[in-house]
Amino acid sequence: MLLKILLSISLLGLPPIKSDQSLKLQNAIQSTTGFGGFADKAIDGNTNGNYFNWSCTHTQASRNNWWAAELEVKTEVNMVLVYPRMDYHRGAINGAKVYVDEQLCGMISYVKNKTSYTVRCANLVGKTIKLTLSTHYLMLCEVQAFKFVSVDGGWTDTDTWSSCTKRCGTGTQNRTRTCTDPVPQHGGADCVGIAFQTRDCNTRPCPSKIFVFISDVAMSLIVKLIV
Ligand SMILES: *[C@@H]1O[C@H](CO)[C@@H](O)[C@H](O)[C@H]1NC(C)=O
Ligand SMILES: *[C@@H]1O[C@H](CO)[C@@H](O)[C@H](O)[C@H]1NC(C)=O
Ligand SMILES: *[C@@H]1O[C@H](CO)[C@@H](O)[C@H](O)[C@H]1NC(C)=O
Repeated sequence: MLLKILLSISLLGLPPIKSDQSLKLQNAIQSTTGFGGFADKAIDGNTNGNYFNWSCTHTQASRNNWWAAELEVKTEVNMVLVYPRMDYHRGAINGAKVYVDEQLCGMISYVKNKTSYTVRCANLVGKTIKLTLSTHYLMLCEVQAFKFVSVDGGWTDTDTWSSCTKRCGTGTQNRTRTCTDPVPQHGGADCVGIAFQTRDCNTRPCPSKIFVFISDVAMSLIVKLIV
């Protein structure tokens, strides 16, 4: 707890650790443009899949299409999220390939009603995110790139022990903590230490039965005297 307070004081003023760092994309271009679907509509911040919301791209030709945008700096890219068109031409996204510079990151396989596709890029380094599609119009409602930041695991607080199994004569109680505050991510360190602890409790000896009887009698006498 104290450590936690110290940590939060030392981190005061800094943004919270985010494990998926969004990378800014800019200067979008594509092979051809049709139907008002300009290349920058895939990086306009609007992921809506309805084409007539006018935030999706659309190529003119139906073959050998590509779309590309630049990252601000050359960097590691670990994941690309692709939002396809959802109102019509469903399935058109099938077979689209995602590249970081000229390195293939992955290919999209159409899944009915899926509004976004996650493409993992291991740890490719580059400056350009590019999508290609050879079989259909390329229509993208948003493309987002992410870099993973490793996050070390942290224990949950363990201030509360379970209730004691006995009221006297030594019982046991336990407490459990889990490595979920936060969960280690993207290669961050696991928590160090034990998750489950047990200890003795209510170790005072139990009063003997005769003592309990006598004290009960005494108590009832006292009660009678008072009443
Ligand atoms: C267009 O997209 C925005 C953002 O997702 C949404 O709020 C709005 O309702 C959409 N409009 C239509 C007509 O789909
Ligand atoms: C896909 O979406 C349509 C329309 O929103 C719906 O009728 C259909 O049940 C959905 N299919 C699946 C497999 O979720
Ligand atoms: C921990 O304590 C609780 C409450 O006394 C008990 O029900 C549970 O069995 C204990 N767990 C272990 C693993 O000893």
